[in-house]
Amino acid sequence: MSDYLKKCFDEARINGLILRNRLIKAATFEGKSPNGIPGESHIRLHERMGEGGIALTTVGYCAAESDGRINENMIYMHDGIKPQLQQLIARVHATGAKVSGQLSHCGNFTKSKAFSGRGLFSGKRPMGPSFGINSLGMAYGLPFTGAMTVAEIKDRVKVFGRAAAFMKSTGFDAIEIHFGHGYGISQFISPRTNKRTDEYGGSLANRMRFALEVLEEVRKNVGDDFPLLGKISMTDGVKGGVHWNDSVEIASMLDKGGLDCVICSAGTSSMNPMIMFHGDNMLPNLIKNEKSPIMKLGMKMVGPKLFRDYPYKENYLLEHARRIREKVGNQVCYIGGVCSNDSIEALMKEGFDFIQLGRPLFFDPDFPNNAKADVNYVNGCTHCNECAGLIEAEGGVRCVLNEHFS
Ligand SMILES: Cc1cc2nc3c(=O)[nH]c(=O)nc-3n(C[C@H](O)[C@H](O)[C@H](O)COP(=O)(O)O)c2cc1C
Repeated sequence: MSDYLKKCFDEARINGLILRNRLIKAATFEGKSPNGIPGESHIRLHERMGEGGIALTTVGYCAAESDGRINENMIYMHDGIKPQLQQLIARVHATGAKVSGQLSHCGNFTKSKAFSGRGLFSGKRPMGPSFGINSLGMAYGLPFTGAMTVAEIKDRVKVFGRAAAFMKSTGFDAIEIHFGHGYGISQFISPRTNKRTDEYGGSLANRMRFALEVLEEVRKNVGDDFPLLGKISMTDGVKGGVHWNDSVEIASMLDKGGLDCVICSAGTSSMNPMIMFHGDNMLPNLIKNEKSPIMKLGMKMVGPKLFRDYPYKENYLLEHARRIREKVGNQVCYIGGVCSNDSIEALMKEGFDFIQLGRPLFFDPDFPNNAKADVNYVNGCTHCNECAGLIEAEGGVRCVLNEHFS
């Protein structure tokens, strides 16, 4: 095993948290928490990741508040699910792995209300930086988005802080703040969705204000010695949005704001999702699993414009993530298309501190152990993206090529 590979499988730290290697399970919402309650299959999935040798498993999409969910089957941070989360954390800890939670808010991109049919969504409309269309809520009675007042922004900042305090008190070892993918915080960062003319809009410094206030508030609530990761979109992948060239500045600002480790992703779920999941186009499966006939029709009509083709290649975000690695002082985590020890070795040579794995862990939850045992390890994920197409299917995400793991 080369020194670079060895580095990956040796112990590492994020802000004092000792990790047994440098492989982290990426945040992937798996649809295994019906009605927002983590079920046994959700808990088992993370436990299984721990058994497979992952150092840190990330519970995907932990909404900061109920209205921060995209649908009612997502969890939000409140006492009602503390016992289930504590069980999940205890079972992962028993495997020697640690647990992070992805602290998220959907902002103006939700179908919560109609999805539940019980009016779970508390406001009149989902709120973001500016007025606009909530493409996801079209068929669910929430077609428009509202512009938050400054008081509402300050309130959301506090909501993030309280959720972070809850997560720490529940026993999470780390928190990953979701700054990307077109969700709440990134709606402010993106000039495509942020049309404000006050101190929260305009220049990048202004568009980053909400993100930095959230980071500051989260840090205040968890303390200086608690590991905070953050996932950014290096590009929105749409005209008028965040561009690759902005990404170094965004990562640097978060570094200066006290983030311990930046995760370099790309894309927006609402406008260009495939850029984050290079591989087969998932639109056909999403249409198949969509419950609303109106949405189905809408997806057939508009979908091909949003779900563009990005053919798979190993380490497909490297060209851009490398610039962040070169220019930003804090720890940097690579994500996107890591499927073999060759990929891992290349990333370690580039100086990345951690690597996140998404789809390949559904194909082989033993990826870390198997890769450690065999220098020639190649994961068999084909990037068919069937897993992602199952996000809202009965039973949630599974790998269609691995019947032993669901
Ligand atoms: C089923 C599925 C669900 C996902 N859910 C989330 C999510 O909740 N939050 C997030 O930031 N990224 C999410 N992603 C994106 C992954 O974290 C990751 O960026 C992407 O899969 C690329 O990494 P990979 O090539 O290792 O799979 C999801 C991906 C998949 C396949």
